[in-house]
Amino acid sequence: MTGGLLLAIESSCDETGVALLDGPRRIVAQAVASQVALHAGAGGIVPELAARAHLRWIDPALDEVLEAAGASLPDIGAVAATAGPGLVGSLLVGLSYAKALAWSLDVPLVGVNHLEGHLYAAWLLDPGEAERPEPPFPLVALVVSGGHTFLVEMPDHLAYRLLGETVDDAAGEAFDKAGRLLGLGYPGGPAISRAADEARGTPERLPRAWLADTFDFSFSGLKTALRRTVEAELLAGGRPTAEDGGRLSPPRVAALAAAFQESVVDVLAVKTLRAARVVGARAIVLGGGVASNAALRERLAAGAADLGVELVVPRPGLCTDNGAMIGAAGARRFAAGVRAGLDLDARPSLPLAR
Ligand code: KG4
Ligand code: ZN
Repeated sequence: MTGGLLLAIESSCDETGVALLDGPRRIVAQAVASQVALHAGAGGIVPELAARAHLRWIDPALDEVLEAAGASLPDIGAVAATAGPGLVGSLLVGLSYAKALAWSLDVPLVGVNHLEGHLYAAWLLDPGEAERPEPPFPLVALVVSGGHTFLVEMPDHLAYRLLGETVDDAAGEAFDKAGRLLGLGYPGGPAISRAADEARGTPERLPRAWLADTFDFSFSGLKTALRRTVEAELLAGGRPTAEDGGRLSPPRVAALAAAFQESVVDVLAVKTLRAARVVGARAIVLGGGVASNAALRERLAAGAADLGVELVVPRPGLCTDNGAMIGAAGARRFAAGVRAGLDLDARPSLPLAR
């Protein structure tokens, strides 16, 4: 960096994230304005509302972060912003804001891949947190978010070899759909996790898609199996369909939430641990909203300990979308000499560089 703090902005989906970083790892201050309540009624993200909310909250988020850091605009030495993938209207808000700031402060701009941000969340240090070593290479990283699910090998910084990815739904999307089916509301992930904690008695089993020996994932069969089970039980109980507001009893919801979660966690954990073994990884890194799932974290912690591999999982608030992760990836890109011009475009389908 040219000196000064790195300002990072995330606005790809439904969180407005702003963060100030000092160096590639240290968070000085950050703020996340969540739109969960705004979209809950619709049961999913409404893109136009999301873009307008980013516009509403980006200024106050920056003010909050500067105040918390005891900093002002001239302390900013560079600006990083998510360029993709994500919702185009939402991306444009953060990116245009970042461009205007970089131009007016006359500091460099760097565009960040949101997925790379989820990976680099594992490197972050909170304000006041003790220094700890960086995750060692080679490592395997599992990113499980609302829009993406993939497994990569990282031989070094900013280098990725795709091992596998979802062939249909992302893990978070599957949790969200299952949450709707069970009447648990949006977002489904945290709600399913809470409901699963209430499950009692013999665990039930829903199917898993192993896709032979690949590192790919598929969750649509599991979702269909859950839908069939829920609809059959609603019909047998003389209740309306899930779509028409029919709900199972709380104990049944808990049992099916637990079975669904176990199925997703089992496949994610088995494939990630196998990848770590095959690659000879020294660490496993986890990122994305679903990485805040306690069952997944526990399962991988046990498996990684058996393998003698370090598991690095950001705290839950850094797994879901935030500005600091964009700063962590942006700082690495920046150190590698990457600079963006003011013509940098939002790219809704930007892939992770390979
Ligand atoms: O990474 P993220 O905040 O946004 C995207 O980039 O997509 O991920 C959001 C996703 C949602 O699908 C949400 O249901 C899921 O992460 N999620 C969880 C949990 N917390 C969030 N899934 C399972 N268990 C959780 N505790
Ligand atoms: Zn994300």
